[in-house]
Amino acid sequence: MAVLVTGGAGYIGSHTSIELLESGKDIVIIDNFYNSCPKVLDRIEKLAGKGFAFEECDIRDRAALDKVFEKYDIDSVIHFAGLKAVGESCQKPLLYYENNISGTVTLCEAMAAHGCKKIVFSSSATVYGEHNVSPLKETMIAGGTTNPYGTTKFFIEQILQDLAKSDPEWSVCILRYFNPIGAHISGMIGESPNGIPNNLMPYITQVAEGKREFLSVYGNDYDTIDGTGVRDYIHVVDLAKGHLKALDKILDENGVFVYNLGTGRGYSVLEVVAAFEKASGVKVPYKIVDRRPGDLATCYSDPTKAKEELNWVAEKGIDEMCADSYRWQHQNPNGYED
Ligand code: NAD
Ligand code: WQD
Repeated sequence: MAVLVTGGAGYIGSHTSIELLESGKDIVIIDNFYNSCPKVLDRIEKLAGKGFAFEECDIRDRAALDKVFEKYDIDSVIHFAGLKAVGESCQKPLLYYENNISGTVTLCEAMAAHGCKKIVFSSSATVYGEHNVSPLKETMIAGGTTNPYGTTKFFIEQILQDLAKSDPEWSVCILRYFNPIGAHISGMIGESPNGIPNNLMPYITQVAEGKREFLSVYGNDYDTIDGTGVRDYIHVVDLAKGHLKALDKILDENGVFVYNLGTGRGYSVLEVVAAFEKASGVKVPYKIVDRRPGDLATCYSDPTKAKEELNWVAEKGIDEMCADSYRWQHQNPNGYED
């Protein structure tokens, strides 16, 4: 039996694929390389010391999905495939609704048609919207999302819940990630954004590598420790390990399960810059600029439920996250283009 990993060539999918292979699982990765590069596949195999199946496939293509399910013996799916740029989603909402929502519906239809009804879904802290106050708990009412990307995650959560309600054979685990950063300790795989990074850590690493002049810090007048935004950064390898626990859960039990994957601790932008400078030994020049529209002051998790029910906790701290992010960038200044 194999686990189907959609979007397995991407940042979180590649790290999770390694953990799955190292734990002895057989996997089939599918990806359309919209936001990733085939090179990562060799690196996954090298790092895991184990081969796996790969098919270039778009999750919106039902016929291609059917072929994958016919070719391999798949009993569960970890579903990473999706578009994730908040700004782009405001400019191209239909692209996001079509890719993320239609893609997930098509994937679930193909799964059901082949009797595979177990899915772990990559959701996001963004589904907590603006009205909930950190620490964010799974019992809080989700919704009130502020951009089409976030809304796709909220809608997909609803769709999966409805699906599980309609058919008790389904088992769904919704994982709400906080802010994944870091990279595999080898420095061979990591986050490789196209163009100007939207997120804090890839921007910092590109400044440290001399590819960008300075970091723009989006506002220092929030009600936080130093006025800059506070987030719950989580090492991508800890996040990857959370998926193995989630998979065990749904292989064991039917139903819908929702978990935060975060550390429970927030760091401000300036705290991250300081931790990064300490870990890398490289100075990160920055300028304070206006707030970025749509940003919240503070967002961090209550990770208790994942600890109690999945026996999962994030183990890596901010120093390791920064050191690993820097190693990846320094060894691959142009990401997978090198
Ligand atoms: P990523 O862009 O690196 O990986 C996503 C992968 O999915 C890419 O390889 C892309 O080519 C592929 N893909 C996209 N659309 C596809 C389609 N229609 N068919 C097949 N493949 C497709 O992103 P990531 O950071 O690894 O994120 C993985 C998942 O986790 C996404 O669903 C994302 O929304 C979610 N998530 C990410 C973060 C984050 O900060 N990175 C936070 C919360 C949730
Ligand atoms: C973190 C902090 C910024 C860049 C986004 C998505 C969310 C999730 C994770 C997928 C904030 C500040 C950033 C910069 C800065 N993705 N910042 N200068 O906004 O918490 O979450 O990614 O689900 O949905 O919204 O992450 O890394 O963009 O920002 O000062 O150049 O860094 O203002 O306080 P965010 P981020």
